[in-house]
Amino acid sequence: MSAIAQKLPPHVKPHTSPLSALQSLRAARRNVLEIIPAIAYRQPIVSGRMGARWHMVQDPSALRRIFLDNAANYPKSEVMLRMLRPAVGDSLFTSEGASWRWQRRSVAPVFTQRNVVALAPVMTATAERASQRLREAGSRAEMVGEMLTATFDVICDVALSGREHFDARVYGAAITRYFETAGKASILDFLRVPQWIPRPGELLGLGAVHTMHEMVGKAIAARRNEARGKADDLLDFMLKATDPETGRVMTPDDVLHNMQFFIVAGHETTALALAWALQLLALHPDVQDLAGQQARAVLGDKAASAELLDAMPLIRQVIEESMRLYPPVGMLAREVLHDDVLCGRDIRANDVLFLPLYALHRHELLWDQPDAFKPERFAPEPAKARDRYAYLPFGAGPRVCVGANFAMMQAQIILATLLARFRFTPGPYPLPTPTMAMTVRPDTGVTLAITARE
Ligand code: HEM
Repeated sequence: MSAIAQKLPPHVKPHTSPLSALQSLRAARRNVLEIIPAIAYRQPIVSGRMGARWHMVQDPSALRRIFLDNAANYPKSEVMLRMLRPAVGDSLFTSEGASWRWQRRSVAPVFTQRNVVALAPVMTATAERASQRLREAGSRAEMVGEMLTATFDVICDVALSGREHFDARVYGAAITRYFETAGKASILDFLRVPQWIPRPGELLGLGAVHTMHEMVGKAIAARRNEARGKADDLLDFMLKATDPETGRVMTPDDVLHNMQFFIVAGHETTALALAWALQLLALHPDVQDLAGQQARAVLGDKAASAELLDAMPLIRQVIEESMRLYPPVGMLAREVLHDDVLCGRDIRANDVLFLPLYALHRHELLWDQPDAFKPERFAPEPAKARDRYAYLPFGAGPRVCVGANFAMMQAQIILATLLARFRFTPGPYPLPTPTMAMTVRPDTGVTLAITARE
């Protein structure tokens, strides 16, 4: 492989001529990112018809209209909600209208910066354990697995501290089973292709859901009966969560479903952001050295903690640039309730919108050298000059990710701690390809060689 080719991080090669219906279906089953055509990286909107009329939107002003100015016209795709509801009921992520509004008002205060800082010591302890595991792993490790263990550790500790009722290994296996079965949406569903065409998974995942609910339910019931001398964790915050407008509190099922969503969604996305960041840094030793030196100078032998993060701005920039190239949620879908106009194009009620964050983040009109890894794009000046709607790893508007502070805090604490202590170099080629089912994963994992930093 040439030096230049090694420098450009792996990406999906987009198709340049329209795919037939069959080709689209095959591509979507293999990798959702493969349905994004080459012109979507150059044009604001691409439209077509397959089952329903669809549009792919990657224009900041149109996205602002969808997420914010006319958000009520673009509810979340019912297909995605149907797929998630068996696991997470009508929780914050999966509800609409009044049911969503009161939950958002109750849950948003749980994730204020102040509460997230209060949870940070757990993240520091986890970063310490993650680096201990890497030391024990020897000269090479697979970083997706390592980061999943680390972020799952964080969410288990902050969500359900005291694990008497909670075997993280059994729960982790149930999550995997769910995603491989019922949690797998088919592009067929989004385009309303008739139900008699077979979908992957479906009923097979329900046993996994039962296992997850039973475990989280027991942990919640035990907490309700417990006199706690410890600082509040995420579950305590949720049990106290109150709608500031009505005083309404959550039922046991509301708490169960929301906690279940936090555990599943909160750890996988963050782990992928970290694994991709490490892959990118391994391909760019110059950037890695700068970030590693900055972390080492601030931390010495300590693990990172919340109050030290501002002194290591490069760590945050690396994570932001990694989520530009590999947004953990690479594509969103929305329904259209009433006719509207986006990018000068007529959008009709019942059309389907795809919002490919992956293509937005690599769009030729928005980014200089879009496929190159350049964390300096996220230094304060260039970041301020950019359209807010050109970079949307956490979505935007009223449905913006409620856990963004939490995710950024844990990603920075873990990455800073690891970079202060280790050097990562590329493992065996070929490099992994970004592959999306629910999230954007490296298809072959991220195996890196590891040495201690002096
Ligand atoms: C790097 C990590 C993460 C990424 C990239 C991410 C991404 C996103 C995105 C794109 C959305 C908007 C979905 C849409 O508009 O259709 C979202 C919503 C949401 N996220 Fe995250 N997320 C992350 C971490 C977390 C964590 C740690 C939690 C909780 C512990 C969380 C909880 C939620 C919830 C509850 C919503 C729904 C909010 C609502 O609809 O009001 N996320 N996330």
